[in-house]
Amino acid sequence: MIKIGIINGPNLNMLGVRDPNVYGKLTLEEMNNRIKNFAEEENIELAIKQSNSEGDIIDAIQYFSLHADGLIINPAAYTHYSYAIADALRDCTIPKIEVHLSDIYSREGFRKKSVTATVCTEQIAGFGYKSYILAIYALQDLIMNKSEKIK
Ligand code: DQA
Repeated sequence: MIKIGIINGPNLNMLGVRDPNVYGKLTLEEMNNRIKNFAEEENIELAIKQSNSEGDIIDAIQYFSLHADGLIINPAAYTHYSYAIADALRDCTIPKIEVHLSDIYSREGFRKKSVTATVCTEQIAGFGYKSYILAIYALQDLIMNKSEKIK
């Protein structure tokens, strides 16, 4: 059974309340339940974590690096400037997909830059909670077919 770790960064615990026009109306728990239902149908084991702290996110990356087959990470605002998270991702050798609920390329200028995507296998952005579902599909392919990227 494939095991995938999901890490959600700062302020994502406020989903549902936070800027629903951008991030949608689902709470983090509701979003996680939809993702878990999908994973269950695909026979994938999920471990999901959210933290507002950079250090906790780094600890989680290091943990999943040893205890999961693939990683999905939404570093939230850290995406745009955390070299510490980027370094942790660089050291994490399992397939990893950066996800965003919103399309970061059609928003404010500072969001267009991701220092973490460059060290991830790929990035998926702009599909709301379905970004995570697409990332599970992608990881399944990367893990099962041992391909480096989706062709
Ligand atoms: C986000 C996009 C980031 O720019 C923002 O800081 C977030 C959420 C997204 O999922 O769309 O907190 O990562």
